[in-house]
Amino acid sequence: MKLNVGVIGGDGIGPEVVAEAKKVLDCIGARYGHTFLYDEILMGGCSIDATGEPLTDEAIAAAKASDAVLMGSIGGNTSTSPWYQLPPEKRPEAGLLKLRKSLNLFANLRPAYLYKELREACPLREDIIGDGFDMMIMRELTGGLYFGERKTEEVDGVVTATDTLTYSEEEIRRIAIRGFDIAMKRRKKVTSVDKANVLDSSRLWRKVVEEVAADYPEVTYEHMLVDNCAMQLVKDPKQFDVILTENMFGDILSDEASMVTGSIGMLSSASLNETKFGLYEPSGGSAPDIAGKGIANPIATILSAAMMLRYSFDLDQEADAIEQAVQKVLEDGYRTIDIMPTEDKRATVTQVGTKEMGDLICERIQ
Ligand code: IPM
Ligand code: MG
Repeated sequence: MKLNVGVIGGDGIGPEVVAEAKKVLDCIGARYGHTFLYDEILMGGCSIDATGEPLTDEAIAAAKASDAVLMGSIGGNTSTSPWYQLPPEKRPEAGLLKLRKSLNLFANLRPAYLYKELREACPLREDIIGDGFDMMIMRELTGGLYFGERKTEEVDGVVTATDTLTYSEEEIRRIAIRGFDIAMKRRKKVTSVDKANVLDSSRLWRKVVEEVAADYPEVTYEHMLVDNCAMQLVKDPKQFDVILTENMFGDILSDEASMVTGSIGMLSSASLNETKFGLYEPSGGSAPDIAGKGIANPIATILSAAMMLRYSFDLDQEADAIEQAVQKVLEDGYRTIDIMPTEDKRATVTQVGTKEMGDLICERIQ
């Protein structure tokens, strides 16, 4: 197959980790007879520097014209970077939100899985880890607080800021259907997370999820309040299969879930719409503190490329090959700094940098 992949390197560690994902895709191409044609697209701080805008119309058009988009990360240090002196709609993150909205990428899948080789990097106690855990966070991505009306104004002489959290039945229904569909292919359990004891939007969320659940008799489902879910993720992460939740809760809970798997450097993600198109991005940020040092973990981006093969291109065998190569590299004892075990257990592993990790994964592609 010939596949057109839009590539957004972005800022910070983005370009470094994306380079490794492209290397792995090219390796898959050579092994399985596919050609990946890359179209480099500017977004985030690098786009601001080049064009004055975090995402131009040309960039959106280029993303739309590709079969799928692979992304690194965008943004910089929010306290020191000049990008954060700009009005909010001109900042790097505004580019990403605009891209998600323009392409209607409402379904964000974030798989959090504990590799048995990374048990040492997991901050939880042995008895809590047990046989490990494997969950999928289904985050709604184009609604809620991220896209509601917001303003900062003076009310009776006092500066007041407002953000609004809006969800329509339809927005909830389409993500809930995705969540239950995915649960059917997994362990058939959905935990829908909300704050229905306080928020109207959550009460509607609960009602619609119940309606959708009625069409999936084989799936066990439960509702959980978000504060409890944050606690349960560290108390007993094994209980979760699919976590279905709104935009902001999903943002927060997915960072938490990634840490219990050892590192945010391992968490891939896919943002999908109603078509085969998708935006594939690691869940982590641009990590400006380690950018350019060649030590960032490229695995989340490489696993995001595997998700792209699976969800956008139906290349399941090729996606399996990447996932197995990642598994193998961990079995063989290679680790980037973020997934190094505690000092007493370091004798059995080898620390490697970003490029070496990419090379080692390529070598293991069957
Ligand atoms: C993520 C990120 C983004 C988000 C930021 C960069 C806007 O944290 O993808 O989780 O909040 O969605
Ligand atoms: Mg986030």
